[in-house]
Amino acid sequence: MKHAFLDLIQERRTRYDLTNKSTLSKEGLMELVQTAVKHTPSAFNSQSARALVLCGDKHRQFWQIARHELAQIVPADKFGPTEEKLAAFSAAYGTILFFEDWSIIEGLQHQFPTYKDHFPFWAYQGNAMAEFAVWSALAENGMGASLQHYNPLVDLEVHQQFHVPLNWKLIAQMPFGVPLHKEAPDKTFVPIEERVKMACH
Ligand SMILES: Cc1cc2nc3c(=O)[nH]c(=O)nc-3n(C[C@H](O)[C@H](O)[C@H](O)COP(=O)(O)O)c2cc1C
Repeated sequence: MKHAFLDLIQERRTRYDLTNKSTLSKEGLMELVQTAVKHTPSAFNSQSARALVLCGDKHRQFWQIARHELAQIVPADKFGPTEEKLAAFSAAYGTILFFEDWSIIEGLQHQFPTYKDHFPFWAYQGNAMAEFAVWSALAENGMGASLQHYNPLVDLEVHQQFHVPLNWKLIAQMPFGVPLHKEAPDKTFVPIEERVKMACH
């Protein structure tokens, strides 16, 4: 059995210990995200996933938005841990924002009314596949990442400050960078026999 891909997906882990370093040039990073997003499958080949790669000041600007929005809803005396978490994301090399072009979803709903209710679910599923492809490709290149969900809190400012089209719906945020530590923390697993069954006879 070939296992390069299976080995790679075991490399991909949630990493919060991210540094402001990248193993890739800006061009390399762009190529990685473009290739992963381009070749991720999507319902009806809709290709509705979108990504915005933020580095440097733009990346830090995103986490400032999150900080500002969260400060409005988290009580001041409980803001410390939140602030620490956001500071760790901000200390990473960059953040990839994942969106779905909702005008494509609505177009498909209009075109194929039989599947109307399915399209939003498929959009989220397709987006998750793109996230996983990018996350795994980053791991292959020695970079760690985590997956965050500060939407919809940050949506308005993201659209305004980064000039993102209004029909791009923010789905997830992925801070990334070279991890500080070599190894990811241990992870526990539910017995796989309970999760995957086979009936091939
Ligand atoms: C759909 C989805 C949503 C997630 N949302 C968050 C999140 O909001 N914040 C976070 O820190 N991790 C988030 N995670 C990461 C999971 O907690 C993590 O993948 C899981 O604990 C397994 O650890 P691993 O990524 O190291 O394999 C999310 C993962 C998935 C697949």
